[in-house]
Amino acid sequence: MAGTGVLLGACSGPQSALDPAGREAAEVATLFWVMLAGAAFVWLVVIGAALFGSRWQRQPLSERGGLRIILWAGAVFPTVVLALLLAYGLRLMPVLRAGEPALTIHVSGEQYWWRVTYTGRDGARIETANELRLPAGSAAEILLDSADVIHSFWIPALAGKLDMIPGRTNRLVLHPERIGTYRGVCAEFCGRSHTFMAFPVVVMEPAAFEAWLAREAAPAASTAVDGAFLANGCGGCHSVRGTAATGTIGPDLTHLADRQMLGAGMFANTDENRRRFVAEAEEVKPGSRMPSFKALPPADLDAITAYLGSLR
Ligand code: CUA
Repeated sequence: MAGTGVLLGACSGPQSALDPAGREAAEVATLFWVMLAGAAFVWLVVIGAALFGSRWQRQPLSERGGLRIILWAGAVFPTVVLALLLAYGLRLMPVLRAGEPALTIHVSGEQYWWRVTYTGRDGARIETANELRLPAGSAAEILLDSADVIHSFWIPALAGKLDMIPGRTNRLVLHPERIGTYRGVCAEFCGRSHTFMAFPVVVMEPAAFEAWLAREAAPAASTAVDGAFLANGCGGCHSVRGTAATGTIGPDLTHLADRQMLGAGMFANTDENRRRFVAEAEEVKPGSRMPSFKALPPADLDAITAYLGSLR
């Protein structure tokens, strides 16, 4: 009983395909339950036939009787049920690709983070990272690719997973319906920090989303770049729009302080965690391209931490 409780407890929450918050995930959840019912039905009939057959062992079944059980319960019945389930599953494929998207977002997988690019209402390119925001009630088209190895983009509460393949663009349509924060993950082993490649997905009221997108399009609130940030080379890899920091190797940091999480879904975005990430990136995120800056003078680390916290 306790075990059942634990199993069912895992069925809800921000990262569950069985607690859908969008149209595609609802179809996938229904498909799961239909497949489960079909599998249970096949299992019951085949086991029933086996018990029925073995009950006759004391007084052996005639050869024709035995063959008839094997033919109907062991072959015809599972084939019919599985063919019906296959037809039902195939019917879903065009349903999951449908929809006229009101929004296109480009997401690129990189070891081990997500480069997210929106297009502003004026056509401008707006780059952000490691967080996806979507308006509730309309379709969004997500174009997926990869800068290095194969990753896989999966937001269980919103849709099925889709691979991100270098040199190829895959298209996923999402219809988020329930406002809330969900969790997306990389679902394909991509290296040492694969486990640390996640992201929050915030489904918002449409008006709140438009306000967020307009804020995101603007340059950083504090355009006075901190000296320690530039002097230590942070701008070589990171961009802060509107400043001299224009690197494109790592995540864009323009509105970093507005994001919920840090390090691609690893930590809450607090001063303490920002400082730790700068000082110990190689330790907390093995294999990432960000070096540890633990040798910096504490005053520089403080200044960089404070500057990152001001990027709204
Ligand atoms: Cu990216 Cu696993």
